[in-house]
Amino acid sequence: MMQFIIPPTVKIMAESLLLALLRGVAGKATDTLVETMTRMCGLKDDRQTLERLLLAVECKLANAEERSETNGYVKSWMKELKSVAYEADDVLDDFQYEALRRQSKIGKSTTQKVLSYVTRRSPLLFRFEMSRKLKNVLKKINKLVKEMNTFGLESSVPREERQHPWRQTHSKLEETTQIFGRDDDKEVVVKFLLDQQDQRRVHVLPIIGMGGLGKTTLAKMVYNDQGVQQHFQLKMWHCVSDNFDVMALLKSIIELAVSGRCDMPNTIELLQKKLEQVIDQRRFILVLDDVWNEDERKWEDVLKPLLCSVGGPGSVIVVTTRSQKVASIMQTLGPHKLACLSEQDSWELFAQKAYRNSVEQDQSELVSIGRRIVNKCWGLPLALKTMGGLLSSYQQVQEWKAIEESNIRDNARGKDEIMSILKLSYTHLSSEMKQCFAFLAVFPKDYQMDKHNLIQLWIANGFIQEKGTMDLTLTGEFIFNEFVWRSFLQDQNVVVKYDYMVDKPMYEMIVCKMHDLMHDLAKDVTDECASVEALTPQKASLKYVCHLKMPEAELEKMSGLCKGRTYLRTLLAPSKLHKDFKELVHVSTSLRALHCYHYPISICKAINAKRLRYLDLSYSDIAKLPDSICVLYNLQTLRLIGCRKLQQLPRDMARLRNLIHLYLYGCYHLKSMSPNFGLLNNLHILTTFVVDTKDGLGIEQLKGLQHLSNRLELLNLNKIKSGGNAKEANLSQKQNLSELFIILLGQRNR
Ligand SMILES: *[C@@H]1O[C@H](CO)[C@@H](O)[C@H](O)[C@H]1NC(C)=O
Ligand SMILES: *[C@@H]1O[C@H](CO)[C@@H](O)[C@H](O)[C@H]1NC(C)=O
Repeated sequence: MMQFIIPPTVKIMAESLLLALLRGVAGKATDTLVETMTRMCGLKDDRQTLERLLLAVECKLANAEERSETNGYVKSWMKELKSVAYEADDVLDDFQYEALRRQSKIGKSTTQKVLSYVTRRSPLLFRFEMSRKLKNVLKKINKLVKEMNTFGLESSVPREERQHPWRQTHSKLEETTQIFGRDDDKEVVVKFLLDQQDQRRVHVLPIIGMGGLGKTTLAKMVYNDQGVQQHFQLKMWHCVSDNFDVMALLKSIIELAVSGRCDMPNTIELLQKKLEQVIDQRRFILVLDDVWNEDERKWEDVLKPLLCSVGGPGSVIVVTTRSQKVASIMQTLGPHKLACLSEQDSWELFAQKAYRNSVEQDQSELVSIGRRIVNKCWGLPLALKTMGGLLSSYQQVQEWKAIEESNIRDNARGKDEIMSILKLSYTHLSSEMKQCFAFLAVFPKDYQMDKHNLIQLWIANGFIQEKGTMDLTLTGEFIFNEFVWRSFLQDQNVVVKYDYMVDKPMYEMIVCKMHDLMHDLAKDVTDECASVEALTPQKASLKYVCHLKMPEAELEKMSGLCKGRTYLRTLLAPSKLHKDFKELVHVSTSLRALHCYHYPISICKAINAKRLRYLDLSYSDIAKLPDSICVLYNLQTLRLIGCRKLQQLPRDMARLRNLIHLYLYGCYHLKSMSPNFGLLNNLHILTTFVVDTKDGLGIEQLKGLQHLSNRLELLNLNKIKSGGNAKEANLSQKQNLSELFIILLGQRNR
């Protein structure tokens, strides 16, 4: 294979994240609250110096990035710069927090003791401490700037950030994105599967082809085919990806077969029995998507005999894989080799995306450039969609030409080539979108992301800025939609979260996934995201990790990973308590986002993370949230979904003026809101409001919450005191509220 040359634009991509970080910090330095607070502390000059130094670095950064490719010194300088930038961000955050704290009036309340415990410090002490911290950071940046000046870097005018035309409608468009050129493949495969009906043994059919060719898409078309759906008595889809663990696979198959959880011990014998029982000689189709395992024994000795003995006649297993070897290990039928799209199909797929916004008179020239670009995409649907999506953001002929020239060798193919197309598309993202995209690397492959949850995590990390009249949430939605449109995200779908306890749907959510090549790309552009699994071999690497997701099974491995961590900004941890985890929370004073299932109250109390913007305690066992939550003045998102035992919100919750999202789905025992709830007038999402008769707890509290959107459930309407009360709530004027559920008497489904 020919060697692939990285186009020049691709080089600067990883470091652009540093630029985005610096810009974020510089932005924070000019924040009104920070300005006011530093002035009050007599640190105005220091703040201004910080601002200037950051600007000085910013304009040389592009050149430093180039230099760091070959110069180890510059590279390590950049690493240091990043870490100091994070430190500066935290210091500025302290000023912001203090301002918020002073704004929130400390009145007489039952929680006063707690509050004064948490926030006890004299203004003088604060000034002293902050002066020290700020000067310390300044010293470090100063040193870095001095070093930088010895590099002889050139300044560059910061590249004008291209403002993308924000598209409003593409969630619908994505769904109608047609699949081109796969009808014949589908027909062949479907016929093949149905033809096996008299076969006693279970057959295995691989679908092979390179990444981005659409193997999964084809498998999905086949799986959803009406004939296939009717023919098989049991239909199961499992994405294998990197994890070909026999036990995990068996468990997953059992779970798919019974549509429920399988909590069984890891012994083959037990699992085999269970498998026999649940499949029960029914005719099944099992899709194993994206298999990489080339260890023949794992398949031949264990899985194959098991799976092949339990199914009824005509059962089939469809395997998608990039590897010829995997196919030859697993197949009992010759593989279906997926070909590249024909020129015509390629063109149609590309054009459907690329020419949506183009200006009429330029059309013919754009078409001829488009044709040449299509030729460089080698009939790979992912490449075509990505390029089409990218080009649709540009309308000028020169822009199209620049993209055509910046890119893509046209006489080599394989993974590297498609990666170069994906990278090209990435380099054209704005720096805030780059941060948002890189963050996706925190999720494992094939992870199903919840759109709004994801946006809230972006916001918590400060990746998103408000734009004119567009608030944070809306900006996040646009970025998300753009990602879907440009194929950074895919398979957008609405799923209903079901509440099994009360046997009813709880809420709807929009979900999506990432193509695994896109996931590779995200991993490629950042080293700040990790799962514990990936870290264990070299614990040292945790030092630079800012965003961490811990899979449940990996918690045991946590030992020793947490000590001395300060950079951690996002921690997405699943259930089960672990002592090291507790330790982690203690040392994670920089945390912006924390997610913990089944969160015990003791740890909840231990949270000392005043920088927290996002807190997810869903499905916890708590009856009452600790009052200490009310000093998390930065909190924007609080998720308490499925906290069935939760009876009351903390008394002083109205202090959390920055709160934008409050999720209370499935909190069936909540008796009332917290007093003066109406003060939380930043709320955009409030899922539930429980009316009570006492002062400050009535429906009139909704009056000021004019931003409420989506869906609101009103409970205990029987407790409304008067019609005037209800009128005061001004519900009819909440223009963005699209659904209102009203429950008169008590709560439903206790
Ligand atoms: C309602 O939503 C639109 C955008 O969808 C936004 O521009 C507007 O400000 C919102 N209105 C309120 C009162 O929040
Ligand atoms: C109801 O809300 C609208 C829009 O937010 C506002 O203009 C109006 O004054 C409110 N009415 C009352 C009675 O508060």
